[in-house]
Amino acid sequence: MDYRTLGRTGCAVSTLTLGTMTFGKETDETGAHEQLDTFLEAGGNLVDTADVYTGGTSEEIIGRWLAKASPEVRDRVVLATKGRFPMGDDVNDVGLSRRHLQRALEDSLRRLGTECVDLYQVHSWDPVTPLEETLGTLDDFVRAGKVRYVGLSNYTGWQVQKTVALAREHGWAPPVTLQPQYNLLVRELEWEIVPSCLDAGLGLLPWSPLGGGWLTGKYKQDERPTGATRLGEDPARGVEAYDRRSTVQRTWDVVDAVRAVAEGRGVTMAQVALAWLADRPAVTSVILGARTTEQLTDNLGAAGLHLEEAEVAALDAASDPGAADYPYGGPGVHQRGRTVDLVGWLADAP
Ligand SMILES: NC(=O)c1ccc[n+]([C@@H]2O[C@H](COP(=O)([O-])OP(=O)(O)OC[C@H]3O[C@@H](n4cnc5c(N)ncnc54)[C@H](OP(=O)(O)O)[C@@H]3O)[C@@H](O)[C@H]2O)c1
Repeated sequence: MDYRTLGRTGCAVSTLTLGTMTFGKETDETGAHEQLDTFLEAGGNLVDTADVYTGGTSEEIIGRWLAKASPEVRDRVVLATKGRFPMGDDVNDVGLSRRHLQRALEDSLRRLGTECVDLYQVHSWDPVTPLEETLGTLDDFVRAGKVRYVGLSNYTGWQVQKTVALAREHGWAPPVTLQPQYNLLVRELEWEIVPSCLDAGLGLLPWSPLGGGWLTGKYKQDERPTGATRLGEDPARGVEAYDRRSTVQRTWDVVDAVRAVAEGRGVTMAQVALAWLADRPAVTSVILGARTTEQLTDNLGAAGLHLEEAEVAALDAASDPGAADYPYGGPGVHQRGRTVDLVGWLADAP
C-alpha cells in the first residue's frame, strides 16, 4: 500500500480508501465487517462514510466494528464522514446551516461511537446558507475537538476557491480535500475543478472510481443488465442509466482500452482503472466501493500498481472528453493549455 498526506496536512492516508455506501444495503453487516478487516489487513487506513448512507446504517455498522476492533486497529483508522443531505422531513433536517450541521455531526459521532472524526466533509454546496455560517460552524467543530480536518464534496471550481478564500480571511479551519466523482468515464472536472484544487492545495478523494462498475467490463454492449449488479437490480433506474452510457461510443472505447491494458499487464480491469486514477494530479486517495469481499480484494490489488507512460497515454486518449466548448475550447484553448501545464507544475510542488 502507498501512502500520501491528506491534502496539505501532516496526516498520512492510504492511496486507496474504503467506501461504505453499500453497507446495510448490498452488503450486510457480516460482509461489511469482513471488508473492514480485509482493508485494514491490506494496509488501508482511510474509511469514508456519510450520515445519509442507508439512512445512518452505514455509520452504525462501522461504529459496531470499531467497538469490537483491537485498540491498535482502531487507532490506525482515519475516519471520514459527511453531513448535508436530508436526515428527516423537517425543513431544518437538511443543509449546511449551523442548526443542521450541529445536529448532523452529533448524530454521526453517536452512530460511529466516537468523540472525534478525522475528516468531516460537507456533502454538497448549499445555495441558501451563508458560507460564513457554514465555515464558522465547521471551525467550531475543530476547536471543540470533534473534527480534525474539514473537507468538501461535489463542489465546483468557483465554490472551492470562494470557500478557501473565506476560510483564510477569517483564520478558520480551511478545507483540505474535495470528494468529486472522477473516473475514466467522467473527466470533465479536469477543466476547472482539478486546477482549482491544485491551486488551493486540496487533495482529491475521487468517488465512483469504477464508474459504478462499468470499468470492470461487467456491462456489455446491446445487453441490458440483469441480476446482482447495481444496474441490474433496479429495473427502472438501472435501465435508464445503462442506456445513457451505452449509447455513447466513448464508453465502449474506454472499456476496450482498459481491457487492452489489463490483458497486456495480466491484471484485472478494475485494477487498471484504479491505478490510472490514483496517479492523476491532485489525487490523494481513491475511494473503493464493493458489494463483496472478493470485489474489494480485487480492487486492493491496485495498491502499488503504477502504469507505464504508454499505458496511461492509451487510456487518456480513449477517455478524452473532447475539446470543450467556450470558454475551455475556442479562444479559451489558451487557458486550457496553460491549465494543463499548471496542473503538472503544481502537482510537482512540494
Ligand atoms: N461524495 C459523494 O457524493 C459520493 C457519491 C457516491 C459514492 N461516494 C463514495 O465513494 C465510494 C465508491 O463509490 P462507488 O460505489 O460508486 O464506486 P465504484 O467503484 O465506481 O462502484 C462500485 C460498484 O462496482 C461494482 N464493483 C466494484 N468492484 C468490482 C470488481 N472488482 N468487480 C466487479 N464489480 C465490482 C460493485 O457493484 P455491483 O456488484 O452492484 O455491480 C460496487 O458496488 C462509496 O462507497 C462512497 O464512500 C461518495
